[in-house]
Amino acid sequence: MDGRGFALVTLIGFATYLISGAIYRLFCHPLSRFPGPKLAALTTLYEGYYDVIKAGSYIFQIGKMHDQYGPIVRVGPNEVHILDPTYYDTLYSKTNRWDKYDWFYSMMGNPQATFATINADVHRIRRGALNPFFSAQAVGRLRSTMLFLIDRLVTRMENAALRKETVPLFYAYRALTVDIISEYAFGSTLQMLDRADWGASFYSAWRSLWQLSPLTRQWPSLFAFMMKLPQWMQELLNPKTAEVAKMFRDVDQLTMELLQTDPKSVKAKSHPTMVWEIAYSDVLPAHERTRDRISVEANNLLAAGFETTGAMLTVATFHVLSNPNVHQRLQQELEFAIPDSAKIPNHQVLEKLPYLSAIIKETLRIAVGAYSRLPRVSPHESIAYREWVIPPNTAVGMSALFIEHNPMIFPNPDSFLPERWLRDDCRALERYLVTFGRGSRMCVGINLAYAELYAVLATIIRRFPQLRLDGPTAYDMEIVSDYFAGMTRDEGGRGLKVRVN
Ligand code: HEM
Repeated sequence: MDGRGFALVTLIGFATYLISGAIYRLFCHPLSRFPGPKLAALTTLYEGYYDVIKAGSYIFQIGKMHDQYGPIVRVGPNEVHILDPTYYDTLYSKTNRWDKYDWFYSMMGNPQATFATINADVHRIRRGALNPFFSAQAVGRLRSTMLFLIDRLVTRMENAALRKETVPLFYAYRALTVDIISEYAFGSTLQMLDRADWGASFYSAWRSLWQLSPLTRQWPSLFAFMMKLPQWMQELLNPKTAEVAKMFRDVDQLTMELLQTDPKSVKAKSHPTMVWEIAYSDVLPAHERTRDRISVEANNLLAAGFETTGAMLTVATFHVLSNPNVHQRLQQELEFAIPDSAKIPNHQVLEKLPYLSAIIKETLRIAVGAYSRLPRVSPHESIAYREWVIPPNTAVGMSALFIEHNPMIFPNPDSFLPERWLRDDCRALERYLVTFGRGSRMCVGINLAYAELYAVLATIIRRFPQLRLDGPTAYDMEIVSDYFAGMTRDEGGRGLKVRVN
């Protein structure tokens, strides 16, 4: 056979492979009778088009598919999405031992971190080592450190007021949450609150990583490849890649320094130092305590702990300051409960304040946090949903967005209405507040997140009675992309800014 003949045979072979694969996915695949667009059933590139080209918009397209096809839709060759708030606790239960969907969670290239661990049994071991640091009691031990860091933010805001400057709270809140979680993880902060740009460049590096996540999902080796390139090449190709690589190196370095620290000085702290404790934990087998895995875990704790809480604080402050009635009612409650604005009561007191609590719940609902569909896989047994039998090894996901913005459960879902959490029947609503997920993979940091939300909001609103918005509009705050977390159009430059007086 000559060269041309060989090329022709190869082409025909490849075309046959593609056509038979397409016929299988459309007509013979166990999901072939599930409703949904044919293109989504054919290829994950359909999702790629919306998430990569159209900037993290597949989740909104999934919403439209449900309008057309009903409560269960095939959203990928091997994946369905369910829109039915009553089913959430069944899919995300504590008792089923379902895995995470490896293709979906490959996006950050970190399957060694608890968050991205695929296998349910491996996850149980890793989660067991994290749990003790996030109990209400453990978080209580972090209180003095947290108040110290909040005080730094307050001091910088006071200085900005003296100079009549605007405070970019979008970044400032994230600087605070980075410093809190890094102090807890490493026993020292990343000093974001001391940076002139409030850590904007650090945030920008993380954001570029999240923005890259739909592409890494389509092409998982891309991320590892980019991280391995020499620094000059990363800078040439995309300066943000270089920033991300530097960030990972910094966390590696911090982890290494911490592990070589004199144990006496680590133990002398008022709170445990998570990464150190995990590295020497007897809950974990030795292969789970390698320096590489601990470093990946540290990176992930940082990512999981800062953006989510920082974003919630931003949304809460925006809505409080844009609704004079809400602002006034909150101020009255705080003035009464906190007579001396320099003495913020402990969490047990703050969480009993009804209006502050309603504001925090409404923030968690309206902001949603993780827009992602959090897909799970039952490896051996089928999953039942209504009349549908979902075969084993199928990914099944549900986005909190469609529950927390469901007008049948939360009328006027796009309006910020803390009062809905004060009505007599509001307890029934709590079932549908799923911002932290549910079940065995539910957010481990929930107590820490609540402690931060209560303490920071109470402090900022009580300490700065003249606080007012300086710039952002509802358009700037709108979530338009799902990069696991919901994200605004702009990187932050048009995000929340305030004036203190
Ligand atoms: C308001 C703030 C927060 C929100 C809305 C939030 C939301 C979530 C959600 C929805 C999940 C489940 C993800 C999934 O199923 O794939 C999750 C998991 C996780 N979160 Fe959070 N989170 C917040 C704060 C925190 C904080 C402060 C930490 C502290 C480090 C943290 C650490 C984690 C970790 C490690 C996981 C993985 C848990 C596991 O797989 O066992 N989160 N979070």
